[in-house]
Amino acid sequence: MTLHLTVLGTGYLGATHAACMAELGFEVLGMDVDQAKVEALTEGRVPFYEPDLEPLLRKHVETGRLRFTTSYAEAAAFGDVHFLCVGTPQRKGEYAADLRYVESVADGLAPHLDKPTLVVGKSTVPVGTAVRLQQRIAALARVGEEAELAWNPEFLREGFAVADTLRPDRLVVGATSERAEALLREVYAGAISADTPFIVTDYATAELVKVSANAFLATKISFINAMAELCEATGADVTVLADAIGHDARIGRRFLNAGLGFGGGCLPKDIRAFMARAGELGVDQALSFLREVDAINMRRRSHVVDRSREMCGGSFLGTRVGVLGAAFKPNSDDVRDSPALNVAGQIQLQGAQVAVYDPRAVANAQALFPTLGYADSAVEACEGADLVLHLTEWQEFVEMDPSVLDAVVAEKRIIDARNALDPLRWRAAGWLYRGLGRP
Ligand code: UGA
Repeated sequence: MTLHLTVLGTGYLGATHAACMAELGFEVLGMDVDQAKVEALTEGRVPFYEPDLEPLLRKHVETGRLRFTTSYAEAAAFGDVHFLCVGTPQRKGEYAADLRYVESVADGLAPHLDKPTLVVGKSTVPVGTAVRLQQRIAALARVGEEAELAWNPEFLREGFAVADTLRPDRLVVGATSERAEALLREVYAGAISADTPFIVTDYATAELVKVSANAFLATKISFINAMAELCEATGADVTVLADAIGHDARIGRRFLNAGLGFGGGCLPKDIRAFMARAGELGVDQALSFLREVDAINMRRRSHVVDRSREMCGGSFLGTRVGVLGAAFKPNSDDVRDSPALNVAGQIQLQGAQVAVYDPRAVANAQALFPTLGYADSAVEACEGADLVLHLTEWQEFVEMDPSVLDAVVAEKRIIDARNALDPLRWRAAGWLYRGLGRP
């Protein structure tokens, strides 16, 4: 019989997981407490931008293999395996992760569990969460310990979420029983038969794999951004440096793009929650380097503000700045902890008139920063601009012909804070082009 899967929490992670599991042939029920989200998904609409997701969702809503509900009772009755996909944001005023959504799903679902079941945690959690959650679920479930828990962290990237879910580069499972492992082998049979590494381990290791992977990626980005600082002090070029060290297979070129640094709903809060957890465990020294990683990253934002002010002649007062990009990275409408919006906000607070354009993220940006100016196109954002800031490297900006902006800007000055434009092209068109960490 086809396995019945539920996905609890239908945000970026859950909605993607649900649609992809339906694509793999399972019967899937997505559950969320947000009625509006459930209605949108039921109509085949994805309430955020993620390439390839909406067609997949629509396809399986139409086949009937994918449905959505707001009822825990219905989810419990339906599912053989329940994937827990809710968010774990940073707690207000603290570094630690806020586990209230994870706990509320466990508390909502468990009392309805009256047959042997497997709950599978996919959310990013502090190490030690799974063991507590397993006890909590077993205590609340009518079947007691026959309601089992496994931990199966998610490594998908926004913008590539569908591909990453259908063809993951590895699968990690923290499990305490053969039954749990066997069920997850069944769920991921396709990927396993395509030789995807399937790593079975204990809860703590599975939880740590996730946060240490994100910590490593954050460290890699901050490393190259630290090199960018040195390059700026010496006249060297960080993009050439990255290419050159990246040829060493032990280092690798990916995630060595120096620029405005990392943001989003994952890396910044994950490294902070990791430090907080290390402190609780009495090993804070082990992760004190992440403080520096965080500091280097945040310094990128003020660095771009400083360089921008310089290029505006020492003050933002009375200047217009056109901002290209609001999302924390291209191919996403996510503006959580977006470096681009942070810079736009700081510049506006210092007296500039800012107009922001992003191909997808304007609505979310407006909701978060309603006081910034927004535009419907790159050209509109740059009208009368004394300075243009390229802050999120959408393909649209990378391919843009500088002459498109020539006629509208007041001054042909651009800071490419993602080092993604072609300096020769912009300079040839008469622009004063400035990258980060490059002469
Ligand atoms: C990240 C991880 O890459 C995923 O593996 C992980 O599953 C996910 O977090 C998560 O924990 O859910 P994501 O937040 O989608 O994925 O974004 P990334 O592609 O990692 O980019 C993060 C930030 O780093 C962006 O702001 C990006 O602009 C920046 N970045 C990335 C750089 O500044 N330089 C680079 O070379 C690469």
